[in-house]
Amino acid sequence: MANNMKGILITFEGSEGSGKSTQINLLQKYFKKQKKSTLFLREPGGVKISEKIRNILLDVKNTAMGNECETLLYMAARAQLVQEVLLPALQKGEVVLCDRFLDSTMVYQGYGCGVDVSLIKKIGHFATQGIQPKLTFFFDIDAKKGLARINRAKDRIECRAIAYHNRVRQGYLALAKNEPRRIKVIDASKSKSEIHDIVLGHVEKIFSK
Ligand code: TMP
Repeated sequence: MANNMKGILITFEGSEGSGKSTQINLLQKYFKKQKKSTLFLREPGGVKISEKIRNILLDVKNTAMGNECETLLYMAARAQLVQEVLLPALQKGEVVLCDRFLDSTMVYQGYGCGVDVSLIKKIGHFATQGIQPKLTFFFDIDAKKGLARINRAKDRIECRAIAYHNRVRQGYLALAKNEPRRIKVIDASKSKSEIHDIVLGHVEKIFSK
């Protein structure tokens, strides 16, 4: 990544039902109070082309999709988001909050589907143009409990067996073990306000540096 990058990327990872979205909202409100403008993005999606790719990826009717196609479509959606908005925002010095990023592909397609993780890293470097989050939160919840909290129709990935979702969770824990300074594991069974306080603690630390 270019050394002149002034902005800060904070990413949020975890399964649906982990309280991820609630915590992103709370952090956005916090920044608003601080009069610090933030850009919120989600993956896959965030820009027109990537939202179209998202629809293909999550459509439960696309049962024929293979792991290779799935991996590359997540990467394609990411590449477009990076090029169109994420990279320019970071170059301008903005704080960007992103709901999911490359770690998701590492765990959902890598650990979950068995796609070569080192290959995902390589393609990921290309797709992200080397952008790396400064801080990543992984909201950790028992896979079964997380899935049970979903109260809408499940998407193509969420429909997968519990063993798959357990592998995804183990993948996140393995990534966090490798990169403890960047990836903070948060016990998602704690209360909303307890979690928000933990999140703020980490965020304030990176801004005080
Ligand atoms: P969302 O529900 O958090 O919006 O994410 C959409 C789904 O896509 C979710 O089930 C996780 C999955 N996903 C992957 O499998 N790989 C990826 O790289 C990303 C970003 C998401």
